[in-house]
Amino acid sequence: MRKNIAIVTGASCGMGREFVRQLAKKEPCIEEIWAVARNRTALEALQREVSSVRIFSTDMTKQASFDSLKLVLEKEKPHISWLVCSAGAGTQKEVAKTECRDLENMIQLNCTALTLMTRLCLPYCRNGQILLLASGAAFVPQPGFAVYAASKAYVLSFARALRRELKGQVRVTAVCPGPVDTPFLDKMGGREHMPAFKKPFIASPHSVVRKAIKDGKKGRELSVYGISMRVTQIFCKLLPHRIMINIMYKSKRGVDRA
Ligand SMILES: NC(=O)c1ccc[n+]([C@@H]2O[C@H](COP(=O)([O-])OP(=O)(O)OC[C@H]3O[C@@H](n4cnc5c(N)ncnc54)[C@H](OP(=O)(O)O)[C@@H]3O)[C@@H](O)[C@H]2O)c1
Repeated sequence: MRKNIAIVTGASCGMGREFVRQLAKKEPCIEEIWAVARNRTALEALQREVSSVRIFSTDMTKQASFDSLKLVLEKEKPHISWLVCSAGAGTQKEVAKTECRDLENMIQLNCTALTLMTRLCLPYCRNGQILLLASGAAFVPQPGFAVYAASKAYVLSFARALRRELKGQVRVTAVCPGPVDTPFLDKMGGREHMPAFKKPFIASPHSVVRKAIKDGKKGRELSVYGISMRVTQIFCKLLPHRIMINIMYKSKRGVDRA
């Protein structure tokens, strides 16, 4: 009998950890949750809280991580009923002011690792559910956040195309939150550097994850939490992007000068 599992990347904190907690509660048929992240201590704390957690402490920007996970998958041949790719990083600075290694890390983790992880898991995912963490930043290019927004536009595009390729076999949902109250906001330079227009949109990880799981089960293409983000999404569709880009650039400049 194949073991029924969920794999959650970025599980040591933020939304990834919340996905682990909520999947453990809401999906009793999941026997193990494979929690992937670098911070072993945080994963061990999560394991004490959620007994079905199995720790995979690894750096997803390293090819060796995928080689060892591939070996485990080939050996155990589990059924992956949920794959949640939540590991991600962002730097909120203009491109010319960002270190090359930070740009590379964002692309490596947000695009390459997410793609490789998805590909690696696909043979085990039949009739399963894939949630790929994109962002509201995927809706329009964002000066001051250019590479992050571009990396999330990649995730959104990838998720939508993959969904069509896997129709009838695996449900794929792109999760596109606005700002969420997780350590991510501090890592990317602190809330004080966030443009004012984004601050009222900060959501709780609990609510965003609850909606993402619901939308995933309903087989929705996108999961967009909150009325403000849905309005933003509509504006991004209706207004010419050069206008949106200018608004964002000016509001960002205002924050940098303050
Ligand atoms: N928070 C927001 O405002 C927001 C909004 C929209 C979209 N998102 C996206 O949603 C996802 C989750 O964000 P979050 O807010 O939960 O972020 P977070 O709190 O910063 O958590 C990021 C997770 O990624 C893991 N990670 C980072 N680098 C890694 C690496 N090299 N290898 C393996 N794991 C790595 C981190 O664990 P370790 O450090 O232990 O490795 C952590 O568990 C991300 O993709 C993010 O881009 C976030």
